[in-house]
Order: sequence, then structure tokens, then C-alpha cells
Amino acid sequence: MRELNQMTITDATKESFSNRTNERFAFLIDKLIEHLHDYAREVNLTHAEWMTALNFLYDCGKISTPERHEFILLSDVLGLSALVDMINTQGGGTPGSNLGPFYLDNAPKFALGKHLADGREGVVILVNGQVRNTMGQPIKGAVIDTWQADGEGMYPIQDPRQDKWDLRGIFQTDDQGRYYYTTVLPKSYTVPYDGPVGKLLTAADRHAWRTKHLHFILRAPGMRAITTEVFFKGDEYLDSDAVFGVRKSLIAEAKRVPKDANLEFDLEHRPDARVDFDFVLSPARA
Ligand code: BEZ
Ligand code: FE
Repeated sequence: MRELNQMTITDATKESFSNRTNERFAFLIDKLIEHLHDYAREVNLTHAEWMTALNFLYDCGKISTPERHEFILLSDVLGLSALVDMINTQGGGTPGSNLGPFYLDNAPKFALGKHLADGREGVVILVNGQVRNTMGQPIKGAVIDTWQADGEGMYPIQDPRQDKWDLRGIFQTDDQGRYYYTTVLPKSYTVPYDGPVGKLLTAADRHAWRTKHLHFILRAPGMRAITTEVFFKGDEYLDSDAVFGVRKSLIAEAKRVPKDANLEFDLEHRPDARVDFDFVLSPARA
């Protein structure tokens, strides 16, 4: 009969999962067991600490609903979501960044030049740029799906009095690969901190603020789709975003537009400032 000890239990556990019908699954589970066991050995995990961790995960499950996925938030504040984005960013393409919990499939489709923030207070920004491939060629007909918080740091979907489709839309680039629309400058907001993840942040004396941003998903035939965010130069949380989403190449500047400036676009609403940002998509199978 085998006699397991602190060291041999790792291989024994791996072997118990050794039904190798799916190689990738076998590899993932092997590594999970190795790292989990190494962690417990390295920190000399006590029973109390082990139970605290399990109860924490239980609480994350309890507070989760279809609208609130506390485990994604946990992954976000632990830097895991950002790490997965980094691992899956292809050389030469615009880096990926957080999807966040407020994305809605099937946003309304609009013609270029649309104002996404009808009747809303705030600094009106022109958001525009070009979508290109890694050879620098413009991509015509690329699909740009965008969503954002308002000038108060609130997503319309968070407020039952608002239309959840507000401040989001889908555009397609023109013949020169350009996109352009106007909206309001979003504000920073906190990630939800009234649950277990909030307690974790408080225990670590960490704030819950996200640096202000616009969300984007870009798609084009034959290209790798990217989910990313655009941030704003000068924002106070650029270096301490609660979910580690910021990369230098994702920072744009909101530049004031003089009252008499001629704009090269046909727009529904005159902007106070403009944000120029180009996206680069890499081939689907590079
Ligand atoms: C967001 O950007 O919408 C977001 C990302 C992570 C956690 C909460 C919100
Ligand atoms: Fe967001």
C-alpha cells in the first residue's frame, strides 16, 4: 500500500486525473495541481487560512448573479484577466484589455458621425482614427463595437431609469479604414466593492478606481478580433487602475477643438475635444 507524504501527494493527485483523452485538459490540470500544492507548501498553509480562502470563494459564488460575476472581478483585481490579455495579444496588433461586466451583445448599429450621447451632460468628444493591419494598410468595413460610462462614471445599464442601450453602438470603418463618432468624455468609476472582492481590496488597503476609459471590440474578416480599452492622458489612476488594464499604447489624449476649427468629418454634434486613436489588427492565424 502506498504511503503518501507532503511531496508524493502531488504526483498521486496528478495521476488520479491521468485519463489523457484530452491532452490540453490533462496539461492544464497537472499544472494547476503542481502550482496549488507548491503554494500550500511554500506558505505553510494553516487550516484556518485554507478555510478562510474557501469561505471567500463561497461568498464570491453567493453574491454572483447573471449580471454580477464576482469571480471575474476577482480575476481582474488579482491581475489575472490582464495577464491573460497580455498572453493573448499578438505582436504588432493593438494590445487587448478588460472586457468588464457591462458589455451587451447586439448593440445598435449606427452610421459614422453619430452622436452616442444625445441629451447628456459632459464634454463632447470626437472619437476617431483608422483601423489598419500590421502592414499599415487600412481595413475597410472593420466592425467597431463600443460602450462606455457617462460623464458621471455610470454605465446606463447600471441604472434602471436609463436605456441600457445608451452610450453604446456598432460602427463600420469607411473606404479609408476610418471611424468617427461623438460621445461624452467618460468619468472614472469604482469596480463593485460591496462584496467579497471589495473586502479583499480593503484588507490590502487598495482603492477600487478604474482609470476612465472607452471600451472597444474590433472585428474584421481574416483578422484576429480584439477586446480593448482606450484611456486618457493625464488621468489620475493611469498607474493604479484597479484591474491593471492600462498599457502605454492604449493611452490617447483628449485635445480641445477650437470653436472655429474645421473638422474633416460629417458629424451630428460639434465636439469640444477630439480623441485620435488608431487600431491595428493582426491576421487571424499569425
Ligand atoms: C469595466 O471596465 O467596465 C470593468 C472592468 C472590471 C471590473 C469592473 C468594471
Ligand atoms: Fe468599463
